[in-house]
Formats: sequence, C-alpha cells, structure tokens
Amino acid sequence: MCGIVGYIGTKKACPILINGLLRLEYRGYDSAGISTIEDGYVSLMKNKGRVMNLYDLEGIDDLNGSIGIAHTRWATHGKPCKENSHPHMDNSNTFSVVHNGIIENYNELRDFLTKEGYSFRSQTDTEVIPNLIHYYINQDTQKDTMAFLRAVQKTCNAMQGSFAIEVISSLYPDNMIVVRKDSPLVIGKGKREFYICSDIPAILSFTRDFYLLNDYEYVLLSRDEAKFYDKELAPITKELKNIEWDASSADKDGFEDYMLKEIFEQPKSIRETIGAKLKSNEAIAFEDLSLSKDYLTSLHKIYIIACGTAMHAGLGTKALFEKFCHIPTEVDIASEFRYRDPLIDDKTLCIYISQSGETADTIAAVKLAKSKGAKTLAVSNVIGSSITREADYCIYTHAGPEIAVASTKAYTAQLVLLSLLALYMAEVLQENSNSEIENIKQELLLLPTKIEEILKNTKPVQDFAKKIYKESDMFFLGRGVDYAVALEGSLKLKEISYIHSEAYAAGELKHGPIALIENGVTVISMITNPDLAAKTISNIQEVITRGAKTMVVTNQELENKGFDFIYTIPKTHPMLSPVLSVVPLQLLSYYISKEKGLDVDKPRNLAKSVTVE
Ligand code: M6R
Repeated sequence: MCGIVGYIGTKKACPILINGLLRLEYRGYDSAGISTIEDGYVSLMKNKGRVMNLYDLEGIDDLNGSIGIAHTRWATHGKPCKENSHPHMDNSNTFSVVHNGIIENYNELRDFLTKEGYSFRSQTDTEVIPNLIHYYINQDTQKDTMAFLRAVQKTCNAMQGSFAIEVISSLYPDNMIVVRKDSPLVIGKGKREFYICSDIPAILSFTRDFYLLNDYEYVLLSRDEAKFYDKELAPITKELKNIEWDASSADKDGFEDYMLKEIFEQPKSIRETIGAKLKSNEAIAFEDLSLSKDYLTSLHKIYIIACGTAMHAGLGTKALFEKFCHIPTEVDIASEFRYRDPLIDDKTLCIYISQSGETADTIAAVKLAKSKGAKTLAVSNVIGSSITREADYCIYTHAGPEIAVASTKAYTAQLVLLSLLALYMAEVLQENSNSEIENIKQELLLLPTKIEEILKNTKPVQDFAKKIYKESDMFFLGRGVDYAVALEGSLKLKEISYIHSEAYAAGELKHGPIALIENGVTVISMITNPDLAAKTISNIQEVITRGAKTMVVTNQELENKGFDFIYTIPKTHPMLSPVLSVVPLQLLSYYISKEKGLDVDKPRNLAKSVTVE
C-alpha cells in the first residue's frame, strides 16, 4: 500500500526522500512524488510510475530545501496518474500534504469545500486535506504554529476513516506536522533532524531511534525538537525507542532478490524467534507473557484470526492447541470474522497473527473481540506496530524486516512461535503427559539445522521449476497439516508466478476437483505424516492415472510409484512438519517466477502491507 517518508533537518531533503521512497518500493505502488520547502514556496514534483522517474522531472536537481515530504501511492480513489499522485496542495499552493489511508466521508467534505469556493484538481480523497487546513487557518485569528496545529487538528476531527499525514507549508517554513489514525507512522530521531516514515526499513540507514505514535497524537516538528500533543492538543511526552534491526538486514546482502535472501534467512529467524523461550529440560517461558492457569482453565474457545499467509500459519498450528491444551480452536479469516458477529466472550482467547501488525482487517478484528470482552493476543514481527498496541498481550517473531511481498521467513517464524505458545499454554495447564511435549520441544530446537539441510539442496527444485514454469494450472494436495502447507504453497505460487493454482485437502479431490485433472496438469503433494501417507499416495495415483505430472514433498521413505519428482525433507515431529515442507514450495515458486522473468519481490497488484479494507 501507499508509503510515506518525510525529512526535517539540516541536509538537502530531496535525495533523502527519494532514497526512502526507493526503500518503500517493495510495498507496491503506482506513482510517486515529493514536496520540499524552498525559498518562499513549496515545491511539488510527482508522476505516475517508478520512484526513479522522479529524477527525470525538470527542476528536481534544483531543490535545495531541507524540509520535505514524499509518497508512493497505491491507487484507491482515482486512477494512477500524475494529478492523483501525492503530495496534494490546497488551492493557494500554501499547504502540501501526503496521506496514507482512506477518508470515508471525503464526498461530504468535498461538497462543503466546494460551497466555500474551493476547487479540486484530482479525483482523490486526499485533496480535501490541504484545502480543509487552508480553510481552518483562515478562520483562526492567530497565525502562529499553534494555529497551524489547530487547523490540522480540526481537519482530522472532520475526517472519518484512516489516515497518516504529513503537512508542510510555506507559511511555516521551519516546521512540519504529522499525525496518524489507524495507519502506521513513526518518527526517527537524528542529530538536529527527524525522519518520518510509514515503515521503519525506509529510514533504518539513518537512525534506529524512533518515536512510535498512537492514534490522534499530533507532532509539531522543527529541526531541533519534536513536540507531541494529544487529541485535544494538550502537550504529552513520548519515549524514544531503539529498534534492534540494523540497516543491512533491510538490504539484499548479495542475493538476487529479497525473497531468496529471506528464504535463506529462515534458520536464523527461527533460532532468534525461539531465543531464550525454550531451553532443554525447562518449561517454556515467554519474557513478556504470563497467562495464569485459572485464566487458561476458564477458556472455552480459542480463535486464531489473520489474513493470507499469516492465516495459514494459524491453520498449520491449530491442531497443537487442540491436542495439548484441549481447547476447541478455530481459525478464521480476519475480513470474515469482523463482519459475522462471532460468538465470543470473556471465555474466548483471540490470537491474531500479523507480520506487519498493520493489516486493517486484522486490527478491526482485534477491536471487535475486545468490545465483546475477549482477551486478545497479537503475534507480530514489528515492534510497536498498531496491532501490538491494540491487543491485550503481544508476542514477537524475530524474523527481521521482511521486504519481499511474498511472505516466507515471517511464516515459518509464526509457525514456530505459535507452536511455542501452544506448548507453553499446555505446560501451564499441565494437562498432558509431558513426553510428547518434550519430544516436540527437542524437535523445535533442531528445525533451523534441518532447514539448512534443505537449503543445501535447491538444485532439484530449480530443475523441476524449469520443467513446469510454462503451465497454467497447478494443484496442491495434503492431509492434516500438509493441507495447511498446500494452501500456503498454492498462495505463494499464485502471488509471484501468476500461475493459477488450487489447494485441496487430498480427500476432497474426488468430490469435484479431479474433473480438472488431465494431461500436463501438475499436482504437488505433501506427505509428512506416516499415519496418512497411504491415503495421500492413493490420491496421487488417481491423478497420475489421469495424466498429471507430480511432485511429492515427503519425509517418508516412499517407493516411487510413478511420481515425476520426489523431494525428501528431514524428519521431524508430524505437527512441526509445515516448517520444513513449506521450504521447497517457497523455492519452487521463486524459481518458477525467475524462469518466467517476473519481478519476484514486487508482484503485480499486490502490496506488502494491506492497510485498507
Ligand atoms: O502483515 P500481515 O501478516 O497481516 O499480512 C497478511 C497478508 O496480507 C500476507 O500474509 C499476504 O498474504 C502475503 N503477501 C503472503 O505472501
């Protein structure tokens, strides 16, 4: 989705802003633009297309201002074109604004402003913002910086929806105002300078000290200080937080693409996610989480709620909660959960998974559960993200910044963290014989080394990708947790290779989808649970008979019954197998996408963080 960058300091703003935008490219966008404060006026440079194209705009090299705002736009209101790109200015070209989010009542605001004599140059919702600020400042008898702040505050109070905005003005050439509601925005602090961004990796190379903003917190920035105000404009103090990620973790580090780098980072991210929570012969302990036996005993139900890959991580671990905690566990899609009036109360624990912590539907689902009295627990990869501030409890995956749109290392870190959570809860409940739990705990510690083994053997997957990359339909099959992995493998393939694919529980095949199997269709199956192996093998035979090409990912010693490609992964506890079996599927999608010459990291139509509904 859209990205925001801002700078106020002593250096030339333009290159810093463009550098920040380039680092946000992975989020997906269709146009880009910047505004800086120059001598006596606010510049505006924007266009449809790539960030680098900004350098082709006439006059961009002459921008010397040291205060500026910048934006990458992912179109919601109005097609991608220069006029609809951000920044947007008011009619008098005094205020310039970039905005992430959606203003739901923008039609009313536009009508109001039109009656007041304002006109509009774009079809966007955003353009009402600079004009409203201009309108309110004209109503104010004062013209100091507090008047500027009041005008922004009145504008925000008039807007419904979500927003993160940066405002600069030629009337206030030494200031910038920023504010957010339901859309991410953080402020990085340097020496006599501040960096503003919607996404931390954009400015990690400049600073690791950040102020994290809550909804309706206003910041009046000058080169020397950041003054914070609450919704009523009463001054507040904010704590500076140090973010552990280093700048190099947001670089490609010699890999051709972020996705490949992130696939190879999985052993590390799993080790770091396990961290000190799990030690041999000790009960699992979470540093920041303590759930009492009384509370866990009172639970009638667990919901795991998320979107996309994060939701698949829920499906891959649901069985652990049921088996070891003996609590019925349901996995739900956030965009469905939030609109279907689910049966939840204080005896329900709602667990939310979100890599970015900014997914609009998932955050709305947290708010819904809280309003019904349930406790909420967020699993996120981004410290201080919106979901971590909304939920009652929060635990973190330590995957480092995930830049590629297709999620890989965040998914396996989520699987591992949720497994740890399920076992932790089981140990608090003391429900089960400990021997199986102990076995899973030992196996968890071995996962990073086992992924390393898989990553030493990528060539066969690459060779198979070369054989099938021209196909237009593929199927993924599995039973139990293998079905959860089938869903994830299929999503990965769709996202980055644009090949149509479907995932089915292997037993469902005969109930319809088998009608689509014919010569040349590829069927990819996972077989990791010895108890279910024979059943899945029978299903594969049924597709081979009908002409399908087959790939089997397995940890069993299988006799090759006509499979085109068997890829063997190390053995682990059956309930942890998704962490390993997904890796060849990630690699397969990656290599197919490369064979097709596609942009692996920035697939069409997709955004890394889906901050609107
Ligand atoms: O940031 P989140 O984990 O909340 O994101 C959820 C989904 O949008 C995300 O997993 C999406 O499905 C990925 N592009 C999958 O690779």
